[in-house]
Amino acid sequence: MHDTGQPLIEARALAVGYGAQPVVHDLDLEVRPGEVVALLGANGAGKTTTLRALSGDLTPMDGEVRWLGEAARAPLHRRARQGLAYVGERTVFTRLHTEDNLRVGRVATEQALHLFPELEKRLKTGAGMLSGGEQQMLSLARALCRAPKLLLADELSLGLAPLVVDRLLRAVREAADRGLGALLVEQHVRKVLDIADRVYVLQRGRITMAGTPKDLRGNLDAIESSYLAAKATAEKTTYATD
Ligand SMILES: Nc1ncnc2c1ncn2[C@@H]1O[C@H](COP(=O)(O)OP(=O)(O)O)[C@@H](O)[C@H]1O
Ligand SMILES: [Mg+2]
Repeated sequence: MHDTGQPLIEARALAVGYGAQPVVHDLDLEVRPGEVVALLGANGAGKTTTLRALSGDLTPMDGEVRWLGEAARAPLHRRARQGLAYVGERTVFTRLHTEDNLRVGRVATEQALHLFPELEKRLKTGAGMLSGGEQQMLSLARALCRAPKLLLADELSLGLAPLVVDRLLRAVREAADRGLGALLVEQHVRKVLDIADRVYVLQRGRITMAGTPKDLRGNLDAIESSYLAAKATAEKTTYATD
C-alpha cells in the first residue's frame, strides 16, 4: 500500500502553541501519499495543536511546516484549494439537510452515496437530526469526495459506536489505497492501528514513539493506559446517540 513519493506534508523541528508558550516542541513528522498515519496521545498532549499547525490554522513558533515540498505559509483555506482536507468533530451545517450539506461542499450526491450508502435515506433530513455516526459519514464524504491529497482528521470517531468507527476508518483506508495521505488523531487505538501504516505517539507535546503498528504493539498497554480514563468518560457520555 505504501507509496514512496515525496511527503505531502512535513513538520520539521516544529514548535507551536498559544501566546508565547509552545505546547508542541521539536516535532518531526511526515505523511506521504498512500499512507495512513496515526497520531496518538493523551488528552492535552498537543494532538489538535499539531493538526492546526499542519493545516495552517496556527503559525509555527519555531521550525517549519512543509506542504507539497515547500515551506508552507498559506492559511488553511488556501491549502484546502491545493488538496488539504481537515475534518474535526461534527463539521456539518446542522441547519441544512444532508443533500444541501453535500451541495454546499460541492460534492455530487451520487459520489457521497457511493462512499456511504447509509446516507441515502437521510438526504432530506436536517444534518442536526442525524446520529453522530451519520454526521461523521457526511463530514467524511464532503472531505473525501473532493479528492484531496491529504486528510487531517481530528477525532473523527469520538464517542461513536464500534461498528461506525470501523466504517469510517475503512473509508479512509480505502481512500489511502487509492493514493490519499491521511493523518488521523484517534482515541480508538487498536482500531486505528489495524488500518495505519505508521504511528506517532505524542506525550506532553513531544513525540516519544514512532514506528509501524507492529513496532508499537508491544507497548500498546502503556499507550492505552495513558489515556483510557479520558476515553472511557467520552464514550459513556455519547454512546447513546448512535
Ligand atoms: N486555544 C487555546 N489556548 C490556550 N491553550 C490551549 C488552547 N488549545 C489548547 N490549549 C492547550 O494546549 C495543550 C494541548 O492541547 P491540545 O492540542 O488540544 O491537546 P489534544 O488535542 O492532544 O488533547 C493543552 O494544555 C491545552 O490546554
Ligand atoms: Mg484534541
